[in-house]
Amino acid sequence: MTDTLKILSGNANIPLAKAICQYAGVKLGECEIVKFSNENLKVKICDSVRGQDVFIVQPSCPPVNEGIIELLIMIDAAKHASAGRITAVVPYFPYVRSDKKDEPRISITARLMADLLQTAGADRVMTMNLHSPQIAGFFRIPVDHLLAGRILCEHFKKCGTENTVVVAPDAGSAKRAGAYAVRLGLPLAILDKRRHDDTESPAIQNVIGDVKGKRALIFDDEIATGGSILEVVKALDNLGVTEISACCVHAVLSANAPERLRNSSLNQFVVTDSVFIPEEKKFDKMTVISVAEMFAKAIMYTNRGTSISGLYNGY
Ligand code: R5P
Repeated sequence: MTDTLKILSGNANIPLAKAICQYAGVKLGECEIVKFSNENLKVKICDSVRGQDVFIVQPSCPPVNEGIIELLIMIDAAKHASAGRITAVVPYFPYVRSDKKDEPRISITARLMADLLQTAGADRVMTMNLHSPQIAGFFRIPVDHLLAGRILCEHFKKCGTENTVVVAPDAGSAKRAGAYAVRLGLPLAILDKRRHDDTESPAIQNVIGDVKGKRALIFDDEIATGGSILEVVKALDNLGVTEISACCVHAVLSANAPERLRNSSLNQFVVTDSVFIPEEKKFDKMTVISVAEMFAKAIMYTNRGTSISGLYNGY
């Protein structure tokens, strides 16, 4: 079956797609993506994909909306080129935080994304650390929801976890952080974060658990403006922790997040390469852990029709 495997990439995160191909032992398929003067896009898959098992790698990265259209057009191109099966590989799912109707007259945009991928012709979806796992249920096609927990915890085990407490930045992330704590054999503390509006400035109200005199390890699914993590860092500093590491799966790093994180009292900041991180957004405290091998394995196992559940237990 492996000879039918074809991996293609949009423009969102080509280094990740290339790294996945390297682990999978295949060459990244060639595509021409042209943007016309009227901003319309044309995608041409350069080699035949007739009957093949096509995986299109395109996480949500800036420019987000253009990346979504590019992915949809690539799926459509593969469909019209008679691909045997098409899997949208979206390590960071677009509009993943827009997963519920928590205000009147708003869109559940993650659900819309699910509909669009299916309408374009995706047969399967492969993603990682969804903001809420229920998003997988927005689809009528199979979704492989990979989790970065194992590789992230391996990193922290290597760094040493003596006198450390895992900190959940809000009640919503307590289950996820709890799974990390179990995996690392560490206690858990939960912060009570409230976001009152769309200003992206949350406030910490209370802390459940013992953090004083300990090293803190904060886990979150994504970091955008850095507002949530920095609020947690401030609260933990006031509560007398001795050292703070933060780990966020998806490094969106919008606005001036890198600068604010660099200037904060954070000791270590760990992310994955699910989102492309330009050099100018990297800084000395940052460690980037690649998820390429995990995606390569998931792609190869899916292609062979073997189980991938071993790749995503825990968070
Ligand atoms: C929120 O529910 C998420 O889990 C993250 O905490 C949030 O997306 C981070 O965003 P920011 O860095 O802008 O605070």
